[in-house]
Amino acid sequence: MTQATSTRKDFLSVLDFDAADLERCLQLAAQVKADRALGRHAPTANALDGRHVAMLFDKPSLRTRSTFEIAIRELGGHLVALQPDVALGKREPVADVARNLERWVDAVIIRTFSQHLLQEFATAAKRLHVVNALTDQEHPCQAIADFLTLQERFGQLRGRTIAYVGDGNNVATSLAHAAAMLGVHVHVASPEPYQLPHAVVQQATAVARHGARLRLFSEAADAVAGADAVYTDTWTSMGQEEEAVMRRQVFAPYQVNEALMSLAKPGALFMHCLPAHRGEEVTAEVFESESSVVFDQAENRLHGQKALLLMLLAPAVTP
Ligand code: CP
Ligand code: NVA
Repeated sequence: MTQATSTRKDFLSVLDFDAADLERCLQLAAQVKADRALGRHAPTANALDGRHVAMLFDKPSLRTRSTFEIAIRELGGHLVALQPDVALGKREPVADVARNLERWVDAVIIRTFSQHLLQEFATAAKRLHVVNALTDQEHPCQAIADFLTLQERFGQLRGRTIAYVGDGNNVATSLAHAAAMLGVHVHVASPEPYQLPHAVVQQATAVARHGARLRLFSEAADAVAGADAVYTDTWTSMGQEEEAVMRRQVFAPYQVNEALMSLAKPGALFMHCLPAHRGEEVTAEVFESESSVVFDQAENRLHGQKALLLMLLAPAVTP
């Protein structure tokens, strides 16, 4: 039995959890995944009974939006789907939006541009649980699904190595944070101006357990050598569309193709948060190959976020 105990208010970053929280979240996610077949008879089917959860997305989404909606419903909660015309920080101050919402709902799930804005929102509303559904800087919910996927494949995570090839972006940041806490080594290969920020390396180093190491590389081949999984993401994140042509040139040597995968450990997994761009950051062959776990990652967004909602909103529930 897994106790969903947590005293956490927000999940703006993987760093809002400690290692025990993260491990508990993965364990709970595996449990709610197994229980899903029970439908309305699942032990957590009424865990959010009478609770309201709002969602506000300032950027497009397929996976995050759908999986949070389904998670809220399957936990017995009520969804308030806010529209982008709320215009966070433009129509009225961020803190005012937060202080309105905390009078009505228990939690808000936000996808927006700035991590700073999200922090401002969470600080303004002391009674509201705030969840980061992606900012320019971090994508912590993705990291939960990624490590649930790896845990399913590998069992023990500790001592494994993930190579992340491409832009040192929001997905790479949350991956690095979570890996460090879980004792997983990460090799990141990026062109020099797109390396993981130094602050992220420091954060990951500060929370690292079981000797987990985060190493930065400039050559993709060096990062991938001997890795258990190879991860990539789009070269042009949402909001960077004007740089797309330039980025396609800069990142071309960082494409994950069969030649690069052959340098990893035999049987190494291919990972991507999606949406993917075949012929850019990954070839169609690798994306569609036996080693690709991208749709497991997508499925696990649902189970990981259910576990997260239970930890934040229903800590007494024991499935
Ligand atoms: N991976 C991910 O967050 O997908 P969406 O942008 O579709 O939500
Ligand atoms: N780095 C990507 C992730 C999309 C899920 C972006 O921010 O657009």
